[in-house]
Amino acid sequence: MNDLQVRLKIKAAKAVIKYVKDGMVLGVGSGTTITYFIEELGKLVSKDNLEILAVPSSYDTKFKLVEKGVKITTLKEHPNLDLAVDGADEIDPDLNLIKGGGGCLFLEKIVADAAKEFIVIADESKLVGRLGEKNPIPVEVHPFALGHVVKRIESIDGKPVLRVANTGKVGPVITDNGNFIVDVKFHKIKDPKSLEKELNMIPGVIENGLFIGMASRALITTPQKVLIKTQK
Ligand code: 5RP
Repeated sequence: MNDLQVRLKIKAAKAVIKYVKDGMVLGVGSGTTITYFIEELGKLVSKDNLEILAVPSSYDTKFKLVEKGVKITTLKEHPNLDLAVDGADEIDPDLNLIKGGGGCLFLEKIVADAAKEFIVIADESKLVGRLGEKNPIPVEVHPFALGHVVKRIESIDGKPVLRVANTGKVGPVITDNGNFIVDVKFHKIKDPKSLEKELNMIPGVIENGLFIGMASRALITTPQKVLIKTQK
């Protein structure tokens, strides 16, 4: 990550803070942009002594929230979240997303779905004309089903690649939920909504990284401004 990307991620994290109000229960995504958001949230909670609760979407986010003094809860205690905030790998003009670069897509989709409002924050490099332009679609797969899921994805012209850990572990990445991730390239994604459903219909697929029609707002940072895009 270069200096400009860091500055734009911090700017996005600061911009979303004004949507956080006292008494809210938040869903908190995962990734580097969200790490900056957690820092801002920690400052807000300690400065103004706010009663904020958060449902984390990964161990990483959970540990960082606790470190910054933000209280944790679960969907069992709070199934209705006021607001979910998360980053994204790609954002199309309709605010459809590809997520899961950090392997946390399963819990991220749950907290986004559980929230009244889902705001995505990102620097401008995440904007694309069409989903899949730059990134594959991450698909979380139960280990037992790997070969079957690979075969089924290939039958719909996807090119699945098992995600392999590049540090700290040999072999496949194991998600926080004990599963594998396959990253799937498609030649051209014409109908992301149907593809999201089709992938999830394959037995053994836990969830996929297409987030269609979920984000109500996107705060996108450029060096000059914060662009606020809302779902039409
Ligand atoms: C993690 C995600 C992240 O939100 C996505 O990968 C963007 O990450 P970053 O903020 O580090 O650019 O989906 O599963």
